[in-house]
Amino acid sequence: MRRNVKMLVAAMVMLTVACAETAKEQNSTTTVVEEKKEDISSNPDYKKGLALVAANDCLTCHAVNQTMTGPAYADIAAKYANADTATIAMLAQTIIKGGSGNWGQVPMTPHPALSEEDAKAMVKYVLLLKQP
Ligand code: HEC
Repeated sequence: MRRNVKMLVAAMVMLTVACAETAKEQNSTTTVVEEKKEDISSNPDYKKGLALVAANDCLTCHAVNQTMTGPAYADIAAKYANADTATIAMLAQTIIKGGSGNWGQVPMTPHPALSEEDAKAMVKYVLLLKQP
């Protein structure tokens, strides 16, 4: 009888420890995901670029994860991963002057009213949208 009680207590202790471990693991996974999300949305390039893209006509042809008239922003981000300042400047010019031939035969309309600074901010935003 005594022995049975001891074993029961031991089993309960083990169970409690196991549960605590699982809870810990789940907690840390959630934290990592949240941190990642926070990272991108608190990035000043992300905020500025998103506001500019939303205020212009970009989203009539582009979506983040879906090809529409224009390529998905996630695909553009993947193609120009680790872009240097020259590439960012080149893409900003493409937005201002329009472009075609890099993704297909459908052209992107020019946006001559945009400043180079704003166009670069939009490129930086787009390039942040690469999927993990
Ligand atoms: C009329 C539709 C349309 C609009 C509006 C539009 N785009 Fe595009 N965009 C396209 C198409 C089509 C392409 C692919 C062009 C190509 O094949 O080179 C493209 C390509 C791009 C590229 C990649 C360029 C390259 O050379 O790889 C970027 C970056 C981009 N667009 C950003 C923007 C931004 C920012 C805006 C808003 C200011 C915008 N686009 C508005 C249709 C559009």
